[in-house]
Amino acid sequence: MPLCSHCHTTRLRRFRGESRPKSKDLPASVTILLLQPILSNDMEAVDRVLREALHSDVPLIRQVGEYIIAGGGKRLRPALLLLTAQACGYRGTHHHTLAAVVEIIHTATLLHDDVVDESSLRRGHATANAMFGNAASVLVGDFLYSRAFQLMVTTGSVTVLKIFSDATNVIAEGEVLQLLNSGDPDLDEDRYLAVIRRKTAKLFEAAAQLGAVLGHAGPELEDALARYGMHLGTAFQLIDDVLDYTGDHAAMGKNPGDDLAAGKPTLPFIRALEKGTPDEVAFLRSALEDRNLDEFAAVLSILQRTGALDHARTCAETESTLAAECLTILGPTSYREVLLELAAFAVARSF
Ligand code: IPE
Ligand code: IPE
Ligand code: MG
Ligand code: MG
Repeated sequence: MPLCSHCHTTRLRRFRGESRPKSKDLPASVTILLLQPILSNDMEAVDRVLREALHSDVPLIRQVGEYIIAGGGKRLRPALLLLTAQACGYRGTHHHTLAAVVEIIHTATLLHDDVVDESSLRRGHATANAMFGNAASVLVGDFLYSRAFQLMVTTGSVTVLKIFSDATNVIAEGEVLQLLNSGDPDLDEDRYLAVIRRKTAKLFEAAAQLGAVLGHAGPELEDALARYGMHLGTAFQLIDDVLDYTGDHAAMGKNPGDDLAAGKPTLPFIRALEKGTPDEVAFLRSALEDRNLDEFAAVLSILQRTGALDHARTCAETESTLAAECLTILGPTSYREVLLELAAFAVARSF
């Protein structure tokens, strides 16, 4: 199927506030977020740090790095750090550096993740592994990880180093745990949640907490914002796993079906195994083992019939509500409003 990468890129650019939305095709919650001019100057500063961070005398590093970073992305994690820093009264410039660091770490995980998942589409373009090969993706991912650490030490803060080193360690655990779980039809919801909290929510937690650290928010506010990030990231990954069955490749910029093809039992799949008839369960178990996308439509219809996708959406809504509740500690500022919008977006999103 041809991909409308133009639409995808345009939508992301709009989401990032680089231009005002002209159409009415976006969900209401996102549209409100788009109208917030609150981050545009800071995001430009973050993009400058990102561009400089890709500098290397080794041409392939620049080529692969620029390919994936210029490919766009929603820039949610840097937005989170910028917002929490400002909500906590931070007025320096380290938040630009650290927001770029969060995005660089995220990008490194994507380079590695697409190799592991054998994905071919990301941010509306062929993945770096499809373009440059697995070896280049893994090695440039390593470059980005280490560049992120070079950048964060410029803040001179051991607390910052501790948060990032713990987060990257936990993310790696999550990815390895997920690998161990692949092809396992007996995976339960708790073990699934343990994976997504590590592989995805941990970086959201770190981003939100780091804003509080920069703003010298104190332990209570720092803890509340860290918990906000953890719930937000959990909601975000739950919806990612729903979209992997229901999403549109042009909107998402990624191919649906990657989870089944990688043998990943995500929450919609796990729930359908719990709720399906014996015949459905037998079919799902063999589809997971086969990792065959020819069975995608039949799997999807079982997920729909059993209410498994709705269940996963409901779990995401619960996490989003918990995230929003963590924000009551903040005063009623425009930063808090946008953080609330992010919690709503994590669930309402189609990309
Ligand atoms: C993709 O994250 C990886 C997940 C944790 C699901 P995003 O959906 O934030 O990816 P980009 O940065 O916008 O491309
Ligand atoms: C992404 O999980 C988690 C990390 C990148 C650490 P997924 O494999 O579900 O993300 P997508 O769907 O490929 O973006
Ligand atoms: Mg993936
Ligand atoms: Mg996914």
